[in-house]
Amino acid sequence: MITEKMQDALNGQLNKELFSSYLYLAMAAYFEAESYAGMARWMNLQAQEEHEHALKFYDYLIKVNARVKLTAIDEPQFEWESPAAAFQAAYKHEQFITQSVNDLADLAMNERDHATAAFLRWFVDEQVEEEATVSEIVDNFKMIGDSKSALFMLDRELGQRTNAPDTTAN
Ligand code: FEO
Repeated sequence: MITEKMQDALNGQLNKELFSSYLYLAMAAYFEAESYAGMARWMNLQAQEEHEHALKFYDYLIKVNARVKLTAIDEPQFEWESPAAAFQAAYKHEQFITQSVNDLADLAMNERDHATAAFLRWFVDEQVEEEATVSEIVDNFKMIGDSKSALFMLDRELGQRTNAPDTTAN
């Protein structure tokens, strides 16, 4: 059993993961509208991955006999100045999520809730990966500058993304 404070904090993170999914789906739609099919595919897969993250919190709450409380999801931004600006925004959002996961891990430690701390370990590691991946894409945009042909190549490269959402049990 976990404390009510921990339960509320985990439900808060479940909402943030759903918002992440919503935000990345909005970015995918933006890329579709701008005819960047590869970036749209990349973001669509990212949105699916975030939904899986949300479900990990859902499953954990159920497993420890806590209550899942679904709350309203904020409306995400709709337009971005450029594909580079959208990925930059995704990078900033991942940094925000990392901070949120770290705050949760601090709370689990303060509560001496070892089970939740162990559950959160996966997310701590995942955030390192998430930030590194998006940061690399942001760097690619910086390198290509105004080159239309390089942007075309980057779109094609991002469209190669194949990884399905991680559905491994936590
Ligand atoms: Fe669920 Fe991208 O963090």
